Amino acid sequence: MHSAQPRPATFTASGPLRGTVKVPGDKSISHRSLMLSALAVGESRVSGLLEGEDVLATAAAMRAMGAAIERTGEGEWRISGVGVGGLLQPQTALDMGNSGTSTRLLMGLVASHAISATFIGDASLSKRPMERVIDPMSLTGAEFNASPGGCLPLMVRGICPAVPISYRLPVASAQVKSAILLAGLNTPGITEVIEPVPTRDHSERMLAGFGAELTVETDVQGVRHIRLHGEAELKPQNIEVPGDPSSAAFPIVAALITPGSEVTVTHVGMNPTRTGIFKMLEAMGADIHYSNERVVGGEPVADITARHSALKGIEVPPEVAPSMIDEFPVFFVAASMAEGRTTTSGLDELRVKESDRLALMATGLTMIGVKLEEREDGLILDGSGGEPFAGGATIASALDHRIAMSFAVAGQNARAGIMVDDVSPIATSFPTFEVMLQSLRR
Ligand code: S3P
Repeated sequence: MHSAQPRPATFTASGPLRGTVKVPGDKSISHRSLMLSALAVGESRVSGLLEGEDVLATAAAMRAMGAAIERTGEGEWRISGVGVGGLLQPQTALDMGNSGTSTRLLMGLVASHAISATFIGDASLSKRPMERVIDPMSLTGAEFNASPGGCLPLMVRGICPAVPISYRLPVASAQVKSAILLAGLNTPGITEVIEPVPTRDHSERMLAGFGAELTVETDVQGVRHIRLHGEAELKPQNIEVPGDPSSAAFPIVAALITPGSEVTVTHVGMNPTRTGIFKMLEAMGADIHYSNERVVGGEPVADITARHSALKGIEVPPEVAPSMIDEFPVFFVAASMAEGRTTTSGLDELRVKESDRLALMATGLTMIGVKLEEREDGLILDGSGGEPFAGGATIASALDHRIAMSFAVAGQNARAGIMVDDVSPIATSFPTFEVMLQSLRR
C-alpha cells in the first residue's frame, strides 16, 4: 500500500506533447484475471497485468485465501488456482488499500464459500458504500457485519451452499454485477443478474473464457439478463491484458488541449462498454484516429492517435455515463478548454468514487480559473475556447488517483503551474504516469 507520506508535485506547461506511449494493463481486467485464475483448477498465465497497488491488493487477498500467485517478469504472472469452492480461510484481515473493485468483487466471492473474511482499507475506501453488495449477498444467506453506513471495516461470513438469487441492479454498477456473478460460481443452480443499464462486461466475457456456463439475453426494453450456472469448473487460461482505456484518456486529453501536440497510445482496450470518453471527445470535434484494430484475448484493442483540437462544448447524454464513468474528471478538463458550454447530468455515482469527484473537480477547476456550476448530479462548464488555464493553485487530490492525474493534465496548458498536494495515489492505477508524461514533453 502506498506510503502515508504525501508527495506534492507541480505540473507546468512545456509546449507540445509528442510521442508514442503505452499505458499499463486494464485495471478491471487485471483484477478479474487474478480472481478467476485463482479459482481455476491448474496454472494460468497473465501478461500485461497492471502492477498498481489496487491489483496487488487483489493478488495479496487471493494468496491469503490459498492461491499461489507469482510474478515471473514485467507484467507477467503465474497463478495456480484452488478451484471454485476451494478458497481457504484467510488468517488476517484483507487489506484492500484504496481499491473498491477488489473489495466489492471479493465480498461476493467470499459470500458463497464456507469462510469468513474481514475487509479493511484506507481512509477513502472506508467511506465508500458497501450496502450495494451487502443487500444482494444477504439474500444468498451470507452474513455481514459492517461499520456504520455499511462501510469498511466489514466482516463477511460466507455460506455454502448459498441460495442462488435473481437480482435486478438498483444502481448501474459493474462491481455489484460482478460480485453477484462471482458468488454464483460456487452456488448451486442459476444465479441471475438483471441489468437495466449496461455496464462494463469484462466479467461476463472472462467467465465465459474460463469455461463457465453463462448466457446473456437482452430483452425488448434493452435490459440485460445475465444467467450463470453455478458449481462451475473453471479451466486455466493464458490472458493478455489490454492497455487501460481509462489510463489512456489522460495522455489523449493532454494532447487534445495542448497546442501543437500529437500523441499515440498503443494497445488500448476498445471494449464498447468503456469507450464513451473517446466518443464524447469526438463529438466535441476532437481529432482522434484509430489504427491497428484487432482482438486480443476476447477484447477489442487499437492504437489511438490524438492531435491538439479546437473542442466545442456538448451536452453529454446521461445514458453514456456508465461507459465513461471513471473518465469524467479528465473529461471535465477537456470541456473546460472547449468553446461554449458542456452539460453533464446523471452522475450521482461520481460522488461515491475514490472521492466526491463532482465536488473535487468543481473546486479544483474553479481554483485554476474555470467557470462552472456544480449541480447535484453533474457539472456545467463554460469552456475557455482554448485559452490556457490560469493555474497557480494547489489542488487537493484526496487519495484519488484520477483527481491527481486530471490536474497534472490541466497543468500541461496552464499559465502558471498547478500543484497537486499528493500524487502518491496515482500508484493505485498508473504507476508510470509521471514518467510517461515526462516522455511526451520535449
Ligand atoms: C469497475 C467498475 C466501476 C468503475 C471502477 C471499476 C469494475 O465501478 O468505476 O473503477 O472493475 O467493475 P462501479 O461498478 O461502482 O460503477
